[in-house]
Amino acid sequence: VNGKIEIPVVVNVLYKTAAENISLAQIQSQINILNQDFNATNPDYNSVPALFSGVKANVGITFVLDAVNRKSTTKKSWGTNNAMKKTAQGGIAPTSPTTKLNLWICTIGGGILGYAQFPGGASATDGVVCDSRYVGNTGTATAPFNKGRTATHEVGHWMNLRHIWGDATCGSDLVSDTPTHNTANYGIPAYPHYSTCTGTPVEMTMNYMDYTDDAGMYMFSQGQKSRMAAIFVSGGPRFSFGQ
Ligand code: ARG
Ligand code: ZN
Ligand code: CA
Repeated sequence: VNGKIEIPVVVNVLYKTAAENISLAQIQSQINILNQDFNATNPDYNSVPALFSGVKANVGITFVLDAVNRKSTTKKSWGTNNAMKKTAQGGIAPTSPTTKLNLWICTIGGGILGYAQFPGGASATDGVVCDSRYVGNTGTATAPFNKGRTATHEVGHWMNLRHIWGDATCGSDLVSDTPTHNTANYGIPAYPHYSTCTGTPVEMTMNYMDYTDDAGMYMFSQGQKSRMAAIFVSGGPRFSFGQ
């Protein structure tokens, strides 16, 4: 990323129970984690194996809490059809989505931790959704997803990153310095975990774009950084954030 990209984050909290109305401290813990993970200041960054030390990246994008909007609701869960983003459906419409990252916090249901919209989609639904139990590292944050990595992963999607296994057996994430993974990894895989794809590379299971537990993911790669940086340049789908 050339120069300094600072992303204002508008947090939209939808709650039925008091627990779902997460504290400002929990929200701020998530912002802090995004800043660590995108600036290689996360305490586990030095756990990246030597094999990947040449490709691990300081993405160099910062996040600033801009506003917190809260709204009570009678909905027990919101699903993944973007209802939480629509006033007419009881949700909260995004604030300035072409210049601010909107983060909706609510109960999603179905075991879904979070989901995101890729660059290039409709402004009215742009942003990231995280289940309230998987935000930040304090308050209601629930193990093994209690280190704020759901938002890190989802913001990775929002910045155009694909899953590291390419959502297919030995699929491609369109990034050349990440190894080809067989499929998603869960839990905290023992290192080294070998792929059975062409060349049998050691998988980069500690990448934020895999599906491991929060404690098992702690790096982006240089190729992922380039892919993210490309959306903020002139002509890129998120150029309006880079101004
Ligand atoms: N399942 C979600 C997704 O595909 C998020 C996975 C986040 N993983 C984590 N360890 N928090 O976007
Ligand atoms: Zn994902
Ligand atoms: Ca790759």
